Amino acid sequence: MNIDSIFENNKQWIQDKLDVDANYFEELGKGQTPELLYIGCSDSRVSTEELMGAKPGEVFVHRNIANMVISIDLNVMSVVNYAVDFLKVKHIIVCGHYACGGVKAAMQSVDLGILNPWLRNIRDVYRIHKNELNQISDEEKKYDRLVELNVQEQCVNLLKTAAVQKAVRQRGLTVHGWVFDVHTGKIIDLKIDFDDILKNIREIYHLD
Ligand code: CO
Repeated sequence: MNIDSIFENNKQWIQDKLDVDANYFEELGKGQTPELLYIGCSDSRVSTEELMGAKPGEVFVHRNIANMVISIDLNVMSVVNYAVDFLKVKHIIVCGHYACGGVKAAMQSVDLGILNPWLRNIRDVYRIHKNELNQISDEEKKYDRLVELNVQEQCVNLLKTAAVQKAVRQRGLTVHGWVFDVHTGKIIDLKIDFDDILKNIREIYHLD
């Protein structure tokens, strides 16, 4: 991507929008009422809106390395609380992706400096699911499964927050775990059984 072409592309994009609807930006300026919160990886190949066919105003987005939901990360927690309490989103999606560099890096015996505490959360996912993962001999398949289980655990982390617990109970907010397959372009719904998980979570993490 040539940095100089961005402003030219932007001009073209504005023109394309105005060709279809002359009031497009007037409407866009009025505010947002997205029904989805998307939490995904910062990976440049996972272009959130484009792969979902979403338009501006439809998705509230947070991205970080390996789509993590960490309880002491003020950034992701602010996004979640704002989206749930003020925007009143109906769905929260955690979307991981195969071939995730963050997940791969987390499992290597290397000192990655400031990334260590961030990525250690992925090692914790491995520890929780060690029995299942250690049975997979194919390295590639093991990483794929770790990507999926990481998505699941980040969904669980969402369900541990008071804001999400309250919204699930009061207005049927739903949490979804997805994986984007960079090799095919497909979004895969992991169809995680949250009712079962929620029961376990309530036992220990019940806040509201
Ligand atoms: Co990634």
